[in-house]
Amino acid sequence: MVAVNDPSSPSTPSPSTSGGTPGGSAVPEDGAWWRHAVVYQVYVRSFADGDGDGVGDLPGITSRLPHLRDLGVDALWITPFYTSPQRDHGYDVADYRDVDPLFGSLSDADDLLARAHELGLKVIVDLVPNHTSDRHPWFQAALAAGPGSPERARYMFVEGRGEDGDLPPNNWPSVFGGDAWTRVTEADGTPGQWYLHLFDSTQPDLNWRNPEVGDEFESVLRFWLDRGVDGFRVDVAHGLFKEEGLPDTELPDPDADGPASMVELAGLDEPMWDQPEVHEVYRRWHRVLADYDDSPRGRRMAVAESWARTAEAIARYVRPDELQQSFNFHWLSAAWSAEEFAEVVTETLPSLLPYGATPTWVLSNHDVVRHVTRYGGGELGLARGRAATLAMLGLPGSAYLYQGEELGLEQVEVAPEDRTDPSWFRTKDTAKPDIGRDGCRVPIPWGDEEPPYAFGPAAAGSQPWLPQPDGWAPLSVAAQTGAVGSTLEFYRRALAARRTFALTAGEEVEILDAGADVFAYRRGPLVCVLNAGSAPVGLPDGVGALVLSSGVDPTGTLAPDTAAWFLDD
Ligand code: NOJ
Repeated sequence: MVAVNDPSSPSTPSPSTSGGTPGGSAVPEDGAWWRHAVVYQVYVRSFADGDGDGVGDLPGITSRLPHLRDLGVDALWITPFYTSPQRDHGYDVADYRDVDPLFGSLSDADDLLARAHELGLKVIVDLVPNHTSDRHPWFQAALAAGPGSPERARYMFVEGRGEDGDLPPNNWPSVFGGDAWTRVTEADGTPGQWYLHLFDSTQPDLNWRNPEVGDEFESVLRFWLDRGVDGFRVDVAHGLFKEEGLPDTELPDPDADGPASMVELAGLDEPMWDQPEVHEVYRRWHRVLADYDDSPRGRRMAVAESWARTAEAIARYVRPDELQQSFNFHWLSAAWSAEEFAEVVTETLPSLLPYGATPTWVLSNHDVVRHVTRYGGGELGLARGRAATLAMLGLPGSAYLYQGEELGLEQVEVAPEDRTDPSWFRTKDTAKPDIGRDGCRVPIPWGDEEPPYAFGPAAAGSQPWLPQPDGWAPLSVAAQTGAVGSTLEFYRRALAARRTFALTAGEEVEILDAGADVFAYRRGPLVCVLNAGSAPVGLPDGVGALVLSSGVDPTGTLAPDTAAWFLDD
């Protein structure tokens, strides 16, 4: 038996549910609404376009909030919508306290927050503290001010190696491909210092050893908390501090299979990731969030994007005086394998025990290949995707859904001329495989028979910022609503059923021995069985009544690539 919580821990809440209604947050008495929440990730460019320019925006999101309420999620996380040159689609922020005109205005953000709260939905916004845009006034000032200035000290400016300083300061690679260093030309026209960018060269890394940086981010947090956000998703949370002295790193074997995703690129044990000093930042943020705890709406939270290597390393971000959640990308990285699913669960849950935090689970996001495609694509991939979703939604803790997965969307093959992802541009000419992320970011279909599939009010037949494929009409929200067996209706039923037990089923999970290819567990009255093999399997003894299956309902045996929930009477 593995458990997320030590029942004797003072931070363990005694959940009391106000759930049971479709959509809207069930806020437990202690206000920690995130502990078992389902959070829906909105990729702002691709969710809904309010003004018809082919790019999603805040008014578009507001107009589609009823979809999220009807789906039955508790919260939405919105990717960055701040002022930005959009070199990394908003993860390059030029002004942390304003909305990019492409997405609307501050008043649109206020309207979105108000409407979401009316519908009982919490709102998490993205915070990008590891780097700014190169158009941020701080970086522009740093370029102008020159070496040794206080302006340069806000970033990672260093002299180069070699006789003329013409070699990068160390061998660090950028996550997006190529070097992590770019040399600037000083005001007098001579080649100058190098600055660090763990991502694109337009995303210079901040120097978190400079107290000014910490003060600035506390102020940014308060700016959005004052406007009413319920939480933050912390971008590259494990990257803020770099090892003193900036030592060389051990580079991956160039002959090995190349990295397939950011999971492999950013999760390595290297001097730029997961340094101990980063935790002091999150202790400070914990105190800032706690200042806003007095609202009847429930407390404020932050979830760390920490691609740390082990479950233990990830868990350190959710110590009781740090952040409330950390993404657990190990579920997403697991292959279609009963053994791997069980392994992730048995490693994750005990790692959180000492801290009283609940786990998070996620299958897809805007950085990885959509899970239906990862699991083989087509009918097989969809069947497995639905089964993995059911297995995920039965576990204790919080589940993060990525927009479009409720429609069963697959990764789209985006033509080279339509690509926009900086990681694609930085790797396309090298031997590295394509890690471009455009294919999971195509605007989602809401209705109609042809692009833009009601994504926005643009003329029928016009394409949004990333072209949508032919044949998406049957996958749209309108087409799937009310359609028996549709993936959308499956998600709605799963989320509704989850509400009946999520807060009361407890946080202990017993992995059941149900055969080599079967991932099965009991959590309180719930038994979940997933058949990852190729032949039908019998059900474990003592399962209760069938609640829901991801495919054909089991009658004595469970079909391959299917999962089912059973509840004790
Ligand atoms: C992680 C984000 O999820 C990704 O989209 C972004 O490109 C990098 N961080 C850099 O901010």
